[in-house]
Amino acid sequence: MRIAVLMGGTSAEREISIRTGAGVSRALLSLGHDVVLLDTGTGKLLEEKELHAALKQPGGSAIAPTTLPQAAANIGLEPFVRGMPRDIELVFVALHGGDGENGTLQALLDLAQVPYTGSGVLASALAMDKAMSKRIFVQEGIPTPEWVERWAPEDPSQPWIPELDDEEIERLGGFPVIVKPNDQGSTVGITVVSERAKLKSALLTARRYGRLALVERYIPGREVTVSVLDNLALPVVEIIPEVGFYDYEHKYTAGASRYEVPAKIPHETSERLLSLGLRACRALRCRGVARVDFRLHEDGTPYCLEVNTVPGMTEMSLVPKAAAAVGKSYEDLVRTIVESTPIRAPR
Ligand SMILES: Nc1ncnc2c1ncn2[C@@H]1O[C@H](COP(=O)(O)OP(=O)(O)O)[C@@H](O)[C@H]1O
Ligand SMILES: [Mg+2]
Repeated sequence: MRIAVLMGGTSAEREISIRTGAGVSRALLSLGHDVVLLDTGTGKLLEEKELHAALKQPGGSAIAPTTLPQAAANIGLEPFVRGMPRDIELVFVALHGGDGENGTLQALLDLAQVPYTGSGVLASALAMDKAMSKRIFVQEGIPTPEWVERWAPEDPSQPWIPELDDEEIERLGGFPVIVKPNDQGSTVGITVVSERAKLKSALLTARRYGRLALVERYIPGREVTVSVLDNLALPVVEIIPEVGFYDYEHKYTAGASRYEVPAKIPHETSERLLSLGLRACRALRCRGVARVDFRLHEDGTPYCLEVNTVPGMTEMSLVPKAAAAVGKSYEDLVRTIVESTPIRAPR
């Protein structure tokens, strides 16, 4: 098959997306596919010899610059879809965050009638919006930490003096609370707030990434995740940060976290997590591969935080680790994602 891998982009997760794109491209090539790799952030397309040469270098830096100027636009995305070479049979979405994961790209590809991996428009948009996802989790009886929403003014130059009253703080179980932007990934813009005096600055940090901020009940306990591949839940992965909080740096620095696969948790807890992971994906109408993040409370209750519809797929990422636990290699995983993609009307 001739497959276009879309990666890079302009979101805060650009760097990790480049590594996902590199890993996926390598796997697709070794499965015998014909691959073109597009960095949607720069519009640069790598094909054949150039792509092979770039992939030979370790890491992703040889295939695209890891950083772009602030507030850069996805200049390569729409022109590529509009002028999509007719021989492209499938788009492999390897863009984390922003336009690549929030339904925008998916809508463009629907219009262009090109099949693509992963979730469609609705699931992508819902999963990217934590507040909307959580409303659905509540509706479906999927436990999720209680939360309060705060909108910043539309005009970023307007002052914003966000506050929570005592009743709201009480509803969240008191301090500490978690403050997070509604639609970021990779723990970007998240703060654990231990006292009222620090709440405002945490909300202002979250505001840098979007107008809506969530203040969530802090769930003490463990960090676990459930990967769902083509309607099947893979074994639970536990992430054990070497120091405190699981943040961007620890996620992507080898050795900064340990992983337990399958997680060493009671059988019933694991069964419950797998079932909640599947239900969360079904509730949001996800397709292909997705990863559901949970906090496992000290009392054994799982709380669903969010669903990622384009989860990280670097060699170090959680989905490949979960797949390995059922004997699926990275290549097998990529093959399953491709094969489970419905091929719609011919172009
Ligand atoms: N309510 C919470 N209680 C405790 N830790 C949390 C909570 N929400 C988020 N975290 C921590 O922050 C990380 C990122 O949160 P998450 O909601 O998954 O957003 P992201 O989209 O950035 O991954 C989690 O993996 C967890 O370590
Ligand atoms: Mg997460």
